[in-house]
Amino acid sequence: MSNKVQIFDTTLRDGEQAPGFSMNVDEKIKLAHHLQKLNVDVIEAGFPIASEGDFEAVSEIAKTLKGPEIAGLARANKKDIARAWEALKYSQKGRIHVFIATSEIHMRHKLRMEPEEVLERAVKSVEFARGFTDNVEFSAEDATRSDPDFLAEIFTEVVKAGAKIINIPDTVGYTTPDEFTKLVRYLKEKISKVKDVLISVHCHNDLGLAVANTIAGIKAGARQVECTINGIGERAGNASLEEIVMILNIRKDVVDCYTDVDPKRIYPTSRTLSLITGIPVQPNKAIIGRNAFAHEAGIHQDGVLKEETTYEIIKPEDIGLSSSTLVLGKHSGRHALKTRLKTLGYEFSDDELNRIFKKFKQLADKKKEVYDEDLEVLVAEESLREYKKYRLDSVNFASGSNMIPVATIQIKIDGKPFEEVGCGDGPVDAVYNAIEKIVKGKCKLTRFIISAITSGSDALGEVTVHIEEEGLSSIGRGTNTDIVVASAEAFINALNRLDVKKKMTQKKEFNL
Ligand code: KIV
Ligand code: ZN
Repeated sequence: MSNKVQIFDTTLRDGEQAPGFSMNVDEKIKLAHHLQKLNVDVIEAGFPIASEGDFEAVSEIAKTLKGPEIAGLARANKKDIARAWEALKYSQKGRIHVFIATSEIHMRHKLRMEPEEVLERAVKSVEFARGFTDNVEFSAEDATRSDPDFLAEIFTEVVKAGAKIINIPDTVGYTTPDEFTKLVRYLKEKISKVKDVLISVHCHNDLGLAVANTIAGIKAGARQVECTINGIGERAGNASLEEIVMILNIRKDVVDCYTDVDPKRIYPTSRTLSLITGIPVQPNKAIIGRNAFAHEAGIHQDGVLKEETTYEIIKPEDIGLSSSTLVLGKHSGRHALKTRLKTLGYEFSDDELNRIFKKFKQLADKKKEVYDEDLEVLVAEESLREYKKYRLDSVNFASGSNMIPVATIQIKIDGKPFEEVGCGDGPVDAVYNAIEKIVKGKCKLTRFIISAITSGSDALGEVTVHIEEEGLSSIGRGTNTDIVVASAEAFINALNRLDVKKKMTQKKEFNL
């Protein structure tokens, strides 16, 4: 058996399904390009029948992305499978991922089907999918709460029907490493009597064991793991890609397996995902959290200064987090910027670089030193250039200890200019009141988060806002050295995303 573990990234499907993480088509395509550079083996790009937006994202990614296989999810029925293939058919390597639940609890209460019917449906669906491609994966949803003998039977039959990959999901994050090892070993033994197929595991993190269970699965013989960037996903999330990859890199002595992922692309990919979704990574998150390389305790700092390996098992640069002290400033030219961006793993066309350079100069005029983190913000903004209904032209405000804060806003909506004045409890409130007067929306601000991206009083401030309107929610981000301007940008960004969501409203509800 080969020691290569295939990385099946499901950030754009299982990850995107989680509340607050939805992405529009452009954002999904952007992230898919990052996943390609990260060198994952399979990208699950979405669930094509779930909505027009999902369909479009999967088909665009299938058409344009070279390298990784592109998978699309389908329930075990002809309509879902045909729709999935319709989106995947342009891919050089399209994979139909068919699933049906196999646990007693799901079969009885959700599917209202007898086990024999589930078995028959699974086989028929795999046969139907095989009519489009020989690259068919079958998942037994809620496998870890299913009867192992029934699982063995259904897997055996779908393999006979032509499934090439068998996925064992711990859908509700219920299993433990020892238990999962036994299950994976048992199923592998049973199935390999029929044919040599690729065994895959898909673990959720409800008990905080997703990565541990995934590693247990690999040790038991799984050679595909399903995971997400930053561990995002349904409820407590999926197994985190960066943790699995780094465990396999660092602990070869305990798990003698490898992946083809380029670890230096981990940080840029993780950061892009947080910038797209507006949801920051928790500071203490393993591998990519802000504090993952911060040594606070004196005794630790002393140790690291004497010998890095005393307290550091991973170097920041291993995951593409630059430890360089090279700082750009207002005298830096286009070449220096291009070189620095290349070191950080970003390459741009001349047009893109020109736009970034212009913004870099504006920033460098306001800030003496431009750090890598600042550059990443500029890169992310360039990456997220998209159709925009709302554009912020200017924001001016006055505020002080003896006056009522007042703000003037100029916005273009579909190219038409609008101007309003607003007052409020503070300058941000005044700005938001002025914007609300213009957009006349019923949207409600539900969260407002301010953080500094770099240190110093001239740091770039990052504002993230969550807004809601008639059951739809959206997240916006703004970055500026002026926190009030950043707040206005964040609100406008959230309105643009909400607008995109409104256009894709027919998103059907699915109970996976
Ligand atoms: O968690 C799960 O069971 C899934 C399947 C659709 C693979 O996401
Ligand atoms: Zn899942």
